[in-house]
Amino acid sequence: MKIGICRVRILKWVALATFLPLLLGGLSGAQEQKTAARSMVAGDDASQYAGVEVCKTCHEGIYKNFENTPHFQTTLKDGHGCESCHGPGAAHVAGGGDVSKIVSFKSLSREESSKRCLSCHGESHKQSRFTQSAHAGSDVGCVDCHSPHHAKEEQHLLVASQPQLCYGCHASTKADFGKPFHHRVNEGLVECNDCHNVHGTGTVRQVRTLPSGDAVCFKCHADKQGPFVYEHVPVKTEGCSSCHTAHGSTNPRLLRVSQVNLMCLQCHTLPTQSPIGPAHNQSQKYQACTMCHEAIHGSNFSNVFFK
Ligand code: HEC
Ligand code: HEC
Ligand code: HEC
Ligand code: HEC
Ligand code: HEC
Ligand code: HEC
Ligand code: HEC
Ligand code: HEC
Ligand code: HEC
Ligand code: HEC
Repeated sequence: MKIGICRVRILKWVALATFLPLLLGGLSGAQEQKTAARSMVAGDDASQYAGVEVCKTCHEGIYKNFENTPHFQTTLKDGHGCESCHGPGAAHVAGGGDVSKIVSFKSLSREESSKRCLSCHGESHKQSRFTQSAHAGSDVGCVDCHSPHHAKEEQHLLVASQPQLCYGCHASTKADFGKPFHHRVNEGLVECNDCHNVHGTGTVRQVRTLPSGDAVCFKCHADKQGPFVYEHVPVKTEGCSSCHTAHGSTNPRLLRVSQVNLMCLQCHTLPTQSPIGPAHNQSQKYQACTMCHEAIHGSNFSNVFFK
């Protein structure tokens, strides 16, 4: 994240947080909002902040733990420490820890709490599409996967390690990766986020990288990308997933269909129609199609994809 951008964001957020309590207090007209915003710009909001040292006096446990997280330095340097997320805390302190005078994440909706995080993280490339993501759309928020105070994984402040974090909600995906043939996610060789950006993408299924959905596969299978002198049309038009499953399969090579010939013949049915069915017969000898049509993803030498 670019800290410079973040600083601007923080200011915007501070402006919001400053007049939020005012709004709750009954000042809700547009005029009052303007006044609040103006007085913020004048810089007289500082009194509403207590400062991290004050928070420490009553929340020592939280503070100690927080010291070791990436937010400690960054929110102190560019924001208000604890109050960057929890909002100005002077009233909370004056009230001897009045819970109604501080933003508690427990009482926020997922949308509201994610919005707070996005006030700083929204500009980052990875999270910038979060509000349009399938996760946000299903009321999954930042705090379902991350925890600033109680993270189980030091890296990225995750609430559980991967892929267990994901399997907790995606049972059928777990089953897919349990199949005999699978990308070795459980074995730690490949990660969900090699292929997905859980924070949202412009593509379907939150799959990484544009412009073609298959770019995600070419990252590791560059040899399948071509261009080839003789392209096998569906590889280009329908993509890898017309023949393969991305997660796991009971069929070798992650194929969708148990026998290669059945898969080919789904498209290559009739010798008279495009795509033309094979002129050769369907005797035993011809059933293992890729024995002969070996370069099935495209070839520079053979228009029928021989080696
Ligand atoms: C005078 C002691 C005191 C100080 C100083 C103080 N708090 Fe609290 N705070 C409490 C008490 C008591 C509670 C209610 C019990 C609890 O949840 O720990 C509380 C609750 C909270 C909660 C709500 C917890 C929940 O239920 O989700 C948050 C958030 C919080 N404090 C943040 C802060 C921050 C940020 C600061 C510094 C600006 C701060 N507190 C300073 C005493 C204090
Ligand atoms: C990056 C945003 C962020 C910052 C900065 C932050 N908090 Fe929190 N705080 C949260 C979230 C989110 C929760 C909900 C629990 C969780 O997910 O960890 C929370 C929960 C709490 C609670 C409720 C009790 C608990 O253990 O969950 C207290 C009290 C609290 N924070 C105090 C503080 C204090 C004190 C600081 C500064 C030392 C601080 N927070 C800094 C986001 C933040
Ligand atoms: C005041 C601005 C600010 C707010 C609000 C904020 N963050 Fe951060 N966060 C940062 C900065 C700065 C960093 C450190 C730079 C970075 O890694 O992007 C960071 C780092 C992180 C990291 C990366 C940790 C790592 O090890 O890679 C996660 C995850 C994260 N924040 C989640 C959250 C969540 C969840 C919330 C809301 C509860 C939140 N942040 C609220 C500023 C903020
Ligand atoms: C479905 C789970 C999930 C949700 C929801 C989620 N994250 Fe993440 N986040 C992850 C995982 C897994 C990683 C590590 C892999 C990666 O970098 O994509 C991560 C990485 C990060 C990082 C560090 C990597 C980086 O460079 O950006 C930040 C910061 C972050 N998330 C912030 C957020 C914020 C803010 C939200 C809410 C707007 C959020 N996340 C929502 C799972 C999630
Ligand atoms: C708190 C529950 C929860 C967690 C944790 C979670 N997800 Fe999700 N995820 C959902 C929900 C709900 C949806 C939307 C409904 C659906 O498509 O299943 C979703 C959607 C998705 C989608 C888009 C599916 C589509 O049809 O467009 C992908 C990809 C995804 N999640 C990946 C992940 C990954 C990777 C992780 C782990 C880093 C993860 N999720 C963690 C609940 C979760
Ligand atoms: C090798 C790349 C790759 C990996 C690794 C991967 N996915 Fe996917 N995932 C995809 C593709 C591609 C799709 C879209 C499949 C389709 O539409 O035919 C997808 C679809 C999904 C969907 C939508 C529902 C479905 O099954 O089609 C979810 C949810 C999902 N993935 C979650 C995960 C989780 C959780 C992990 C890690 C445990 C993971 N994925 C790992 C590539 C991958
Ligand atoms: C992060 C790297 C990575 C990405 C991205 C990736 N793969 Fe793979 N893939 C591998 C590795 C490594 C293997 C080797 C098989 C193994 O032993 O796990 C493999 C094997 C395969 C196999 C052959 C399995 C076998 O039994 O030989 C197929 C088919 C495959 N991938 C298809 C895809 C498709 C389709 C995509 C895009 C949705 C994709 N891969 C994305 C790393 C990746
Ligand atoms: C028309 C169907 C079809 C399409 C589309 C397709 N494949 Fe395949 N692929 C196959 C068949 C059939 C095999 C098994 C070949 C064999 O067993 O000899 C295979 C094997 C593989 C293998 C393992 C053996 C090898 O050659 O490395 C990988 C990896 C692979 N495909 C990746 C991809 C990727 C990536 C895409 C998308 C660019 C893709 N495939 C698109 C049919 C297809
Ligand atoms: C998703 C549909 C689809 C699948 C599955 C498929 N193909 Fe194709 N194939 C095509 C299309 C479309 C063409 C282009 C034919 C045309 O332009 O008339 C083609 C072209 C070919 C050609 C070149 C034919 C020529 O003379 O131009 C061969 C050989 C071929 N496929 C073999 C196979 C084999 C072997 C398999 C199974 C491993 C297979 N195909 C699976 C759709 C498919
Ligand atoms: C023993 C080797 C072999 C096997 C196995 C094989 N083919 Fe062929 N295939 C050929 C030969 C030889 C040609 C003619 C090539 C030429 O015209 O130069 C051909 C041509 C084709 C063509 C182009 C149309 C035509 O007939 O000229 C298609 C499509 C095709 N095969 C599909 C398949 C499918 C589908 C399978 C599996 C059911 C399969 N082939 C199995 C050797 C084989």
